[in-house]
Order: sequence, then C-alpha cells, then structure tokens
Amino acid sequence: SFTPRAFSGIKPSGGLTLGNYLGAIKRFVDWQEAGTHETIYCVVDLHAITVWQDPDMLHAATREVAAGYLASGIDPVKSILFNQSQVPAHVELSWIFSCVARMGWMNRMTQWKEKAGKNAEKESLGLFAYPALMAADILLYHATHVPVGEDQKQHVELTRDIAQKFNHDYKVDFFPETLPVIEGPATRVMNLRDGTKKMSKSGESDMERINMTDDADTIAKKFKKAKTDPAPLPETMEGLKDRPEARNLVDIYAGLAGLSDEQVIAEYAGAGWGRFKPALADLAVAKLGPISAEMARLMADPAEIDRILAHGAEQARAVADPILTRTKEIVGF
Ligand code: ADP
Ligand code: NA
Repeated sequence: SFTPRAFSGIKPSGGLTLGNYLGAIKRFVDWQEAGTHETIYCVVDLHAITVWQDPDMLHAATREVAAGYLASGIDPVKSILFNQSQVPAHVELSWIFSCVARMGWMNRMTQWKEKAGKNAEKESLGLFAYPALMAADILLYHATHVPVGEDQKQHVELTRDIAQKFNHDYKVDFFPETLPVIEGPATRVMNLRDGTKKMSKSGESDMERINMTDDADTIAKKFKKAKTDPAPLPETMEGLKDRPEARNLVDIYAGLAGLSDEQVIAEYAGAGWGRFKPALADLAVAKLGPISAEMARLMADPAEIDRILAHGAEQARAVADPILTRTKEIVGF
C-alpha cells in the first residue's frame, strides 16, 4: 500500500491564467489544507522547453509560477514546492518510461494531435514524448492522486498504463495506479473569445484569457468583451446546455466563489449579461487582486524564491532518489 500523496505541476511557459488558478492552483491549496495527503507541487520547466523558450523568459516564468503557487497559499512548510530541472531523477525515470510506453499510446494523445496538427514533422521529439516525462514526474513520488484540469486527464491515464506495463513486464508491484482528480465547477476554463478552445497561457491574444496578474480595469474590460450569446442566464442548469460561452462564465463564477453552478444559476436566474459580467469581474478582482499583489511582492525578491525552490528540491530528492534507485535495480542497471 502506498502513502496517500498528491502530485501536480505547472509549466513556466508564460504568465499564469485564471484557468491555471481555478483548474489547478486553487485546488492544490485545498489538497494541502485538507491534510489527508502529502502534497508535492512542481514548476515543470523541463516540459516548458518542449516548445521554444527564450532562456531569460524561462527563468522569469519559473519564478512567476513559483510566486503564483506561494501567493495563492501553497506553504513550503506543508507542501514540497520545487522546480523540476533541479531534480535530475525526473529525466532518468522519463527515459526508462520512454522505453515502456508504446508509440501507439503516444500517437493517440489528443493534446499531441492538437498541438502538432499537420505540422508534426516540425515539432520537437520532446513534445511527442512529454507524457512519458509526465508519468515520471508523478511516479517518481509514487503519487496516488493527481489533481489536474480536464485537459490532462488522458495523460494521467497514460501514466496508469505505463505503471501497469512496468509492473507487469518486470513482475513487480512497484508503481501505484495513480488516479486523476478532476473535480469542481471549473476544471475546463474556456477562452473568452472562442468558447471552443481552452484558456491557455500560450494562446495568441491577451484578450482571450484572464492573467492572474491582470489589474482590475483589465479584468473588467476582458469580461465585458467576453463572447456570449444574447439570451439572459437561464432559470435552470438545463438552460445552459449548448451554450458553451454562458456555461464557461457560470463555471468561472462558481469556481471563484466556491459555489456550484446550480447555486450560481439560482442566484442569477434570468439576469442579463449587463448585470452578470460586472458581478463576475468584481468577484475576480476581489479574489485575484490580493494574490497578484502578493506575487508582485514575492517577485521583487527573486533570491528568496530561488531559496524556497532550492530547499524544495532537496526535499523532493529525498523522496525521489530512493524510488529511482529501486527502479534501476528492477530494470537491471
Ligand atoms: P497551460 O495549458 O496554461 O500552459 P499547463 O499545461 O502548465 O497550463 O497546465 C497546468 C495545470 O493547469 C494543469 O493541471 C492543467 O490541467 C490546468 N489548466 C490549464 N489550463 C486550464 C484551463 N483552461 N482550465 C482548467 N485547468 C487548466
Ligand atoms: Na496544459
């Protein structure tokens, strides 16, 4: 039996979005505070370079993601918080898992298919292999639970397949079958301009996403311009069906307020966007304002962030290194 342990990570490939906050960071804080699991959170810089990153920008984004975690309530005393490239075992285990995973499994990953599109020939090998590194991130800590947004579900399922195949091939019961945890109203926050795409740090236009560091005026402007259909908010959940933009704004409101969609609909039944959007903007400013102020304070002292990450890496290595050592023995090294 495995120690109850939650692991998750965020790529430093640009500024943090409201999607990262609601789908990931806010929930990571809940797991930390619940105290039922050890919690290990990572800035996954090895994942970021699967697409080109300017070195100075990568360094800055790594500190920004760390600041986002800390400002949102990740406490380095209660959780292990570290930067992936400072724990070399991730890369070693990822190679072993690259030899366990099958090409066909990787080819089926919808995120690869979406990102590579018709241009797969021009993508990095790392972008294709990324789910094997993600499996290593998780299984290096024998994590039992991975809180993630919906977009990562398939990768956590692949992690289970890799663990199963490893255990089967080497006739051991060494890696746990990790569970993805996708819960709450806002595990798939959509783009504000195009409701068919998820909100992402690497999206083309700044107007399509809310950044965790946006000021109050910018947040208000972005929600005001958010695409919706003209109908008012429905009286029941049923009325949100086939209205992805309306559904998204209700999800965001619910996520920020700590309510269910049903509760938000009950409160705003029949309201027009002229009433709902400003209320949503006010709520977002109230929740994100203190976090972005704290992020700015932390980022003004990068040495302190680096110190926290270095300490976290030491703690991470203490968990990871014995698991890697044992894995290598099993493999026959
Ligand atoms: P991004 O896609 O913004 O680059 P990452 O790939 O670093 O973000 O994902 C970090 C975490 O944030 C993952 O758990 C992911 O599922 C979650 N996440 C990212 N975007 C969203 C979104 N739009 N809605 C909900 N969760 C999200
Ligand atoms: Na993602």
